Formats: sequence, C-alpha cells, structure tokens
Amino acid sequence: MNDYKILIVEDDKKMNEGLQLVMKKQGYAADSVDSGEKALKKIKRVEYDLVISDMRLPGIDGMEVLRAMKQYDANIMFIIITAYGQVDTAVSAMKQGAEDYIAKPFDMQELRVIVKKTLEKRALYIDSARLQNQLQEKYRFKNIIGKSEAMMTVFKMIASVKDSKTTVLIRGETGTGKELVARAIHFNSGKAKKPYLPVNCAALNENLLASELFGHVKGAFTGAITDKKGIFQAADGGTIFLDEIGDIGMGLQQAFLRVLENGEIQPVGSFERKKVSVRIIAATNNDLETMIKENSFRKDLYYRLNVVTIELPPLRERRRDIGILARHFLVRHLNDNNKTIESISSKALSLMESYDWPGNVRELENIIERAILFETSREITAKSLPPALHTAQSNRCGEVCGKDIESLEQLSKNHILQVLEMTGGNKTQASKLLGIDRSTLWRMMRRLDMN
Ligand SMILES: Nc1ncnc2c1ncn2[C@@H]1O[C@H](COP(=O)(O)OP(=O)(O)OP(=O)(O)O)[C@@H](O)[C@H]1O
Ligand SMILES: [Mg+2]
Repeated sequence: MNDYKILIVEDDKKMNEGLQLVMKKQGYAADSVDSGEKALKKIKRVEYDLVISDMRLPGIDGMEVLRAMKQYDANIMFIIITAYGQVDTAVSAMKQGAEDYIAKPFDMQELRVIVKKTLEKRALYIDSARLQNQLQEKYRFKNIIGKSEAMMTVFKMIASVKDSKTTVLIRGETGTGKELVARAIHFNSGKAKKPYLPVNCAALNENLLASELFGHVKGAFTGAITDKKGIFQAADGGTIFLDEIGDIGMGLQQAFLRVLENGEIQPVGSFERKKVSVRIIAATNNDLETMIKENSFRKDLYYRLNVVTIELPPLRERRRDIGILARHFLVRHLNDNNKTIESISSKALSLMESYDWPGNVRELENIIERAILFETSREITAKSLPPALHTAQSNRCGEVCGKDIESLEQLSKNHILQVLEMTGGNKTQASKLLGIDRSTLWRMMRRLDMN
C-alpha cells in the first residue's frame, strides 16, 4: 500500500466501480463520487493527490471541475477522461493545467501507466514543496500566523535573537501580536523551561509596581509585614516581559535602567542591591521618541531598551495575511462551537481585505468569533460580518468614484458611534467588538472629542 489518495469523478456507475477497483488493486486509496459538485465538496475535506474525472458529467462538467480544483490546490494532479475522438477537449484541458488525458474507450493497463507517471510527477512536487516548507519552518513559530514579507522579517528576527541575552523592544499598534512575539522568543529559546513572567506596567501605580517587581523588605511601607521577593527574583534565569513600558513613571525608569546596566535590583525599603540574571523583553505602542522630546521618557533607558527592535506592522499594511489569519481563527474558534462551517465566502473575504483593522489581529479574531455565532450557513458570509466592514467598502468606493472622502478621524468617530449604538452604549461590549481594550476606547473617544 502506498500513500497516494485518488478521487474518481464519474457518473457512469459501472465505469466508476471499475476505476475504483483498478486503483485499489494498485495499492492506492481511492474514493469516488458521481458529480462535479460532490467532487468539489470532497476535496475540501480530504487532501487528494490525483483526481481522475470524466469530461461529461451531469451538472458542472469535467473542465469546470478541473478549473475549480486547480484554483483550490494548484498542485493537485488531474487526469481527464474524454470521449472518443475529442482531441480538442483534451488539448484545452491540458492548457487548463490537467497533467494528462485518456480517451474512451481505453484499456486499464494504459490508464495504470498514465496514473503511475502522473503520481511520480506529484512526488516531485511534494519533495520541492517539502523543501520549501522546511525553509519556512526554520523561521516559523507556533501560533504566529503570517506569510507577508513583513511577517517573514519578524520570524527571522525572532530566530536570530531568541538564543541571545539581548534586550528586545517590540513595537506595534494595539493587537498586532506584541505579546505573542515575546512569548515566541522565550519559549523557543534555551530558557524555555525557566520562568516567563509578563508584567503589565500600565496596570499598577508606580509604588505598587516597584514593590511587585523588585520586592520589599519588612516595614518598607504600611502593610509590609514581611520581606517579599519581587518578580525579578522569581524570574531569575528566565525572561520578564515588560508590557506597556511607555507607561511607567520616571522613578521606575531609573530602576529599570539599573537592571539593564548592571543586572541589579534594589528591593523597596532596602539599601542592599541584588544581582539578577533576567532577560528583558519590553513592548509598547507609545511613540517613545516624542515622549523623550517631551521629557516623559528617559533617553538613556530608551537606548538600553532599543538594542534590537522588532516592529510589528499594522494589519492594513500586510493585507496578504488577512485570509490565512481569518481561516486560522475560524478553525480555532469552531472547536468551541457545535457548528460546521467549512470556509469563508469570497465576498466576505473581500470585505475583510478592504477594511483597515484599527484593532489589528485582535479585532480580526473577534470578528471571526462573532461571525461564527451569527452564521447559519456552512460558510462565513458577508452578512455575518459587522456593519463596519460593509461601510469600509462603500467608503472605499467613494474614494474611487471621487465622492466626498471622509477623514479617518470622522470614520473612526462614526464607527465607534455605530458600535456603541449596537451595544446600547455599553463600552465594555463595544470595545470587545472593536477589538481594542476598554481603556483604548476611552482614550480614542477622548481624542476624538466624543465625551
Ligand atoms: N500573527 C498572528 N497570528 C496569530 N494570532 C495572532 C497574531 N497576531 C496577533 N494574534 C492574536 O491577536 C490577539 C492580540 O495579540 P497580542 O495580545 O499579542 O497583541 P498586542 O500587540 O500585545 O496588543 P496590545 O497592544 O493591545 O496589548 C491575541 O489573541 C493573539 O493571539
Ligand atoms: Mg499586549
């Protein structure tokens, strides 16, 4: 038994059974269907190496099956069976990408030879695809999806810094995957079994954060009844992820500088300094350069953090990733539901590809999750996407047709208003639908003068 899977598309029952039998005797796994429509459904569920299809079929004909299959998987092999004397059909099928043809009536030995030859070609394709995959695998990280040039650069950066001790600064808009990248660096490094401790610097006030990070000694402040070790000591030998580093005050910036320069921490209330060996990965979506000019971020800390910077581009600048990300989230979230949704319609995909994604990948994930809930058919259709995506496309048309162009600010404002209307003014729900944090929504509303 070899590993090849063959799909036979033939409406003549006798012929169908005969072909199946011959292929099975050769050791191939063979399935069969009696129409083109069924064949197209089937290839979405099973990965076939070769399709042998009759040209004349009820419903869509062999040529259409060929076209659709090659569109779905360019490497699938295709042999078309033509009626006696229909050389023209055979030639056009080959032009459309069929590997070979066989004319009725044929003898099974002839078919066996053609099938063998075609599958040898398939093996070559697989080998070169495997090689290509291995190359990509080298730079691929579990759970980080992307095929755009920009993401390839990110993968290479992760690969080249993961095993060093270098401080890494990850920058990018909200929802672009900064935390995901931080985790990939740690969990693909030699430190994977050591602790990885993420700290959200924006979540605590400065004093509390200092004591959480560096620990404190007994009596350092009211309530400090015993000595307490901080996160830096707990993470010794591993990685600390300082998220939202742009949001820390000047006092803490000084303390971070000390860790980065000398590997030393000073527990709150203590004069003693302690050595720690921790790799620091920091992330921010703030404009640190402007903050330096405004004296709210230390220049020396900036230089210490900025040894290696990984920039995560916004999703609208890598639209090639939208399709695979959407499919990835569809598969992931289907597992939580009892639904059978096999694909995303081309209209829905085109709406997604035209939208600007202010909440980036997080927003895309939320929209797919929401679409799964609303969808009643077997594919995600445009109608289960939120109004914002439809508006985006009509606005794009406005642009092209030379109508009034709304400013991005106005667009954001309208969009937020629309979503708030949908949620009856509930900001927590609205921020979830928009794919941003509640605090980001507040900030945007303030900036857009919406309060
Ligand atoms: N390339 C990607 N592949 C798969 N999932 C992704 C990708 N990028 C982001 N995500 C998913 O999107 C969500 C947001 O990612 P993450 O939390 O890393 O973003 P972030 O940049 O840290 O955002 P914020 O600035 O708001 O904290 C997560 O659920 C994450 O798993
Ligand atoms: Mg984050």
